[in-house]
Amino acid sequence: MSSSSSRTMSSLLLIASLALLCSTTTIAKQQYHEFVIKEAAVTRLCKSQNIMTVNGQFPGPSLEVNEGDCLVVKVTNKGRYNVTVHWHGVRQMRTGWADGPEYVTQCPIRPGQSYTYRFTVQGQEGTLWWHAHSSWLRATVHGALIIRPRRGVAAYPFVNHGKPPVREIPILLGEWWNMNPIDVVRAATRTGAAPNISDAITVNGQPGDLYKCSSKDTTTFPVNSGETNLLRFINAALNTELFVSLAGHTMTVVGADASYTKPYATSVLMIAPGQTTDVLVTFDQPPGRYYLAARAYASAQGVPFDNTTTTAIFDYGASSSSTTSKSPAMPTLPAYNDTSAATAFTTSLRGLRKAELPSRVDENLFFTVGVGLFNCSQGQSCGGPNNTRFTASINNVSFVLPSAVSILQAHYHTTNGVFTADFPANPPVAFDYTAQNVSRGLWQPVPGTKVYKLKYGAAVQLVLQGTNIFAAENHPIHIHGYDFYILAEGFGNFDAAADTAKFNLDDPPMRNTVAVPVNGWAVVRFVADNPGVWLMHCHLDVHITWGLAMAFLVEDGVGVLQSLEAPPPDLPLC
Ligand code: C2O
Repeated sequence: MSSSSSRTMSSLLLIASLALLCSTTTIAKQQYHEFVIKEAAVTRLCKSQNIMTVNGQFPGPSLEVNEGDCLVVKVTNKGRYNVTVHWHGVRQMRTGWADGPEYVTQCPIRPGQSYTYRFTVQGQEGTLWWHAHSSWLRATVHGALIIRPRRGVAAYPFVNHGKPPVREIPILLGEWWNMNPIDVVRAATRTGAAPNISDAITVNGQPGDLYKCSSKDTTTFPVNSGETNLLRFINAALNTELFVSLAGHTMTVVGADASYTKPYATSVLMIAPGQTTDVLVTFDQPPGRYYLAARAYASAQGVPFDNTTTTAIFDYGASSSSTTSKSPAMPTLPAYNDTSAATAFTTSLRGLRKAELPSRVDENLFFTVGVGLFNCSQGQSCGGPNNTRFTASINNVSFVLPSAVSILQAHYHTTNGVFTADFPANPPVAFDYTAQNVSRGLWQPVPGTKVYKLKYGAAVQLVLQGTNIFAAENHPIHIHGYDFYILAEGFGNFDAAADTAKFNLDDPPMRNTVAVPVNGWAVVRFVADNPGVWLMHCHLDVHITWGLAMAFLVEDGVGVLQSLEAPPPDLPLC
């Protein structure tokens, strides 16, 4: 038998045993879903257009599981673009083949083809989501992934007086263009200019009362007086961090990114793209209609953004005519550039329990994150400022996806020439990252497909340092395949001597996406206990398009349980 056919044999055996694992435990359940990617006609902002959807729904279907369940989702592409689906925040222990970022863990599913994602949701509870991970398809191809405590065994830790929340309401915040988002990003990639900003922010797919032709479709959430409900917020917007507030009501945060937090009462949330926030709200105000409103937290100076405001209505007492005739109460939102409001929120979150941090750090990484400009080369279209093209990078490397095979396949089959393992642990040049005027010589990154190798089990500390190149901005940095503790964040340049003392080693929040402060830094820690290739990137799609990404390659440990599974037989080919 050739080594490749014996490998296929063993992979078939492994799949068979995995399928058994999914169905034989008594409490965990296997769920099967079919996602058909197809166009659907919708009307928003007075205009009809065709959008890409899952099963014709926008937002897409909500998946509801219990911790420990196994999900099997067959994705069939009946659209006209390549597509993949990413299960944002799911750790995918040993199942990197089901993670979804195109050309990182799989080749895209071509029109007419299908691929079945199989994975177990383990050790995570709360709200996650799924979205397309090809070009800008996630603008409309996304939905909630709700994880409740293990069936019959566990309960919410925030149950009050023995009462769980009466209703659970997924709230997906999105961004809408009066154009096909794929055309928007293609135009930007062609010209080198920044892509068009969106035309609306949405709540569960609807812009709401403050936009033209939208009032009659405003999202309304019926609730009853006195109920305590769980609102599961997901920021699925492409490029916009959002402030969220609910008129007349306090929100008590109990979870973020499918990790529980100590209850934190607030009137405003800041949720960055990729992040989720679970809040409890007691509807104890005079019966009536109350606006939920969201609009941009725009941290970059002089950079255009969508400054519109989306609204939805919480309605208790709609039936009495005295309340429907009045317009709903509107909350006060922070100013667009209110960095103190954003910081006050993110730094108030604490993990529910004491953190399980490794006592040692094996890998001390320092990554700069920011945008940049490529000088124009001959024959290129250079629509960026002063005849340049926009770009972005981590440690001066602007990430380039391979095109013939995914990085994970190249790693598994030891195919050379697809990527190099020389991603730098530190920026190639140390400079004053957050200075008012960073020298122009430092604005041009180098394109590359580089990974950073981690030994199985390595304890990683990563300083994410924002730069003031072109324009400083808050960057929501997401790591696939991992949750991490956020030990500290601050402004200016990270100073190990002074800032290490500020680390919260007791109850830091655990997340999968950290909003790195504008012209500042954040420090995260995780243990590399999940072998595979894991993309890390800014969750502003405009920035990932420009290359603000890199990948960790986590090597196998000892034995099957510390090793990446074999690829499924239907893994798409490029
Ligand atoms: Cu939610 Cu790589 O993304």
